[in-house]
Amino acid sequence: MMPKAGSVINSHSNNKVLGATMASDKKIVVSKNGPYVVTGGVPLSIQTIMPNKEGLSWEWKKGRTFKIDPVYYLCRCGHSKNKPFCDGTHEKIHFEGKETATRQRANRLSLNIPSHP
Ligand code: FES
Repeated sequence: MMPKAGSVINSHSNNKVLGATMASDKKIVVSKNGPYVVTGGVPLSIQTIMPNKEGLSWEWKKGRTFKIDPVYYLCRCGHSKNKPFCDGTHEKIHFEGKETATRQRANRLSLNIPSHP
């Protein structure tokens, strides 16, 4: 079956992929209940946000850099034993990814977030 425009069949885990295309040949696609599928030879490294002198999360500390591959499958479920890469655990745990954020209002009082005007 041919995939629809903007969608791809993920051969890695045989998941249906719901597409999101960037302006070049580089793509990040959120697979249904599976990993992020990154294509186009995107450089990949780990960076950790660090506090600045005021204690605010502001500065990035560069960590491990990975060999550039044409395709990466990045864990989205948080349970891979080989992070940041997907190891297929999402299928074993029946991960259900959400495509959109909830529309429920945050409890602004308990989070101390001011209301938007
Ligand atoms: S998305 Fe596959 S192991 Fe997390």
